[in-house]
Amino acid sequence: MIPSVRIVEVGPRDGLQNEPQIVATDVKRALIHRLAGAGLKHIEATAFVSPKWVPQMADHAALMAMIGDIDGVNFPVLVPNFKGFEAAMASGAREVAVFASASEGFSQKNINCSIAESIDRFVPIFEAARAQNVRVRGYVSCVVACPYDGAIAPAKVADVAGLLFDAGCYEISLGDTIGVGTPASVRRMLEAVAGRVPVERLAGHYHDTYGMGVANAFASWEFGLTAFDSSVAGLGGCPYAEGASGNVATEDLVYLFEGLGVETGIDLPRLVDCAHWFSAKLGRGPHSRVAKALLAR
Ligand code: HMG
Ligand code: MG
Repeated sequence: MIPSVRIVEVGPRDGLQNEPQIVATDVKRALIHRLAGAGLKHIEATAFVSPKWVPQMADHAALMAMIGDIDGVNFPVLVPNFKGFEAAMASGAREVAVFASASEGFSQKNINCSIAESIDRFVPIFEAARAQNVRVRGYVSCVVACPYDGAIAPAKVADVAGLLFDAGCYEISLGDTIGVGTPASVRRMLEAVAGRVPVERLAGHYHDTYGMGVANAFASWEFGLTAFDSSVAGLGGCPYAEGASGNVATEDLVYLFEGLGVETGIDLPRLVDCAHWFSAKLGRGPHSRVAKALLAR
């Protein structure tokens, strides 16, 4: 059997939440449709967070209505609390993602509560999701380091990942929010987390601030992970993590895995077209080496 990986495109959410310019809802819709056309089956569409905190995601309900259904494509959305969950359900979402942090400092800045309070807030979400047959994914941020608290102990990441997994998340996405990890520090973190959550339920969510995103994805794949988050054109960042740049580019991951003989189900030329088209809308080029190289050919 040919090995495969599952790529979760997070550009429309993680990418656009940090863009200084607000992208029009119909342009977001076109982006999502092009991503689906390139073969992405999991596209994190938006976040039902407070529009005061993240104005870039304020059009969440309108966007969900505009996207509609695309056969075989899953559109998870981020929810920070029960209010967000209810709004997500009303908009037709069938999968949500909750997000906690392995660092207290980031939890306070990002969602205005402690780690323990955030997990408590998710309890009614898990209950309602179970009753409505809605899948819940869990993020853990700052799995290597925090912009406020510095280095984070792998055991702390394992604790938070374990709590989310036990509470009902089908997958735990491990976020190197500020992109400082290297294959060595990511591996140390994975070794600890794998003692608490089965490796096949872990995903790598690596920001590319130091250009280590592809290396960290490769190290994680060698460790046994087969799910990875990425953003087309390397869009992204986090509004509450100063200096954090975008996610590793989806094009770069597809090129990596194709080179390893691992299937992604993604059409690289169409994805590269999408990266250039959307970057032009933002008035710049893609932050993806692969997208630049393939255009130049
Ligand atoms: P708060 O101010 O503590 O909340 O914010 P509150 O309950 O006191 O409510 C304040 C106001 O927000 C009220 O409105 C609420 O109704 C409203 P007002 O009475 O002032 O008019 N409100 C909401 N509105 C819409 N949707 C909601 C919602 N909840 C409350 N769901 C809160 C707490 C969690 C809401 C806020 O801090 C928040 O929205 N934070 C989100 C921050 C965010 O989106 N960060 C980026 C995503 S995480 C990330 O990027 C990391 C990740 O990529 C992984 C990685 O890379 O590490 C996932
Ligand atoms: Mg992120």
